[in-house]
Amino acid sequence: MDIEKKGLSILGSTGSIGTSTLDVVRRYPERFRVVALAGGTNIDLLKRQAEEFRPEFVSVLDNDGAERLKQELDIPVEAGAEGAIKAATLPDVKAVVSAISGAAGLLPTIAAIRAGKEIALANKETLVLAGPLVMEEARARGVRLIPVDSEHSAVFQSLLGHRAEDLKRVILTASGGPFLKRRSDSLHSVTPDEALKHPRWNMGRKISIDSATLMNKGLEVIEASFLFGLPGDKISVVIHPESIVHSMVEYTDGSVISQMSSPDMRGPIAYALSFPERIDSGVKSLDFSCLRLDFSSPEPGRFPCLSLAYEALNEGGTHPAVLNAADEVAVEMFLKGALPFTGIPEVIATVLERYEGRRLSTIEDVIEADRWGREAARSLIKALN
Ligand SMILES: NC(=O)c1ccc[n+]([C@@H]2O[C@H](COP(=O)([O-])OP(=O)(O)OC[C@H]3O[C@@H](n4cnc5c(N)ncnc54)[C@H](OP(=O)(O)O)[C@@H]3O)[C@@H](O)[C@H]2O)c1
Repeated sequence: MDIEKKGLSILGSTGSIGTSTLDVVRRYPERFRVVALAGGTNIDLLKRQAEEFRPEFVSVLDNDGAERLKQELDIPVEAGAEGAIKAATLPDVKAVVSAISGAAGLLPTIAAIRAGKEIALANKETLVLAGPLVMEEARARGVRLIPVDSEHSAVFQSLLGHRAEDLKRVILTASGGPFLKRRSDSLHSVTPDEALKHPRWNMGRKISIDSATLMNKGLEVIEASFLFGLPGDKISVVIHPESIVHSMVEYTDGSVISQMSSPDMRGPIAYALSFPERIDSGVKSLDFSCLRLDFSSPEPGRFPCLSLAYEALNEGGTHPAVLNAADEVAVEMFLKGALPFTGIPEVIATVLERYEGRRLSTIEDVIEADRWGREAARSLIKALN
């Protein structure tokens, strides 16, 4: 084994972040080595990735997929959450790219932190669900947690070299998604295909719908709150349709430091993998001769999910976990045609109203809140149909 290379475990390797990560890794065979790949149900792609990168271990969502892969690969394959946890904690893994979508990303990421691995964190749900616990685990073990979300990567970069006490606020940018200009009274009839067409980013289905409702930004506000130790009132959101300024930090003297680049996730992924060095990730240079940058405030009436996320953050405890659970169910039902687009915030608001709250002391509290939120959202949608 070449000990100079950084051993990577890529959780969610078959997804949008996972494949972009492998694009970066492919450019630097002398720098990175793929130790483990964890995918879900896209067995064909996972098999191709395993053949190309020759990891020590592969994990998939279920036993059927594992059985198929075992027959086609001469690499150990395991299934389920246990498989993803093993992929995240193998001894040769130095850094874990946490890019499974949704709440399923939480346990493997926590296991990786407990095993002392560096974390390149794309799975925002890890911090949304269990922010205080995860940050405490990372602190206690001296684990480096570098954000991959482009906004958080921008904030992380804009904070370097500055004193925490000089910070006034963090400003997260949001593209506004595909319905920024659509008449609010026609949002009811939005189809899944329309909602999945993001104007700037090519992402997974769940995050694409969350970008259309701005719940993605709401989850990012919660993620930023835990990651950077800031209350909700120090985190603002501004609409920036061009997605060039990835986020900003304002300091007490009125100076604003931002990070800009072409919208391409390989940038923040490469940064998280190579930090503190910077490597060429393949991201195109900006052409300032024709650059237009627009900013505006999000309309609360058009994007109620954003306010719901702030409310859940302010309530604290397990409210963000319930918000996320209700959103995952509502988005799934919208994609299946069982809920109108405008039903997504309605379901989440009702579920949060009904939630009596629970302390957040252990991962079991998170799991229980997640279960409660899913059940409440499912029975509400069933009653509506
Ligand atoms: N895409 C972006 O630009 C972006 C930006 C910032 C943050 N993020 C965050 O990064 C995460 C991934 O986003 P994405 O856009 O890459 O999503 P995606 O394209 O839907 O990919 C999700 C990945 O997770 C795997 N997966 C899903 N459920 C799983 C489970 N229960 N067990 C094991 N694997 C599972 C999928 O496997 P299969 O496809 O094989 O089923 C796939 O590899 C999300 O938390 C998202 O919010 C994404």
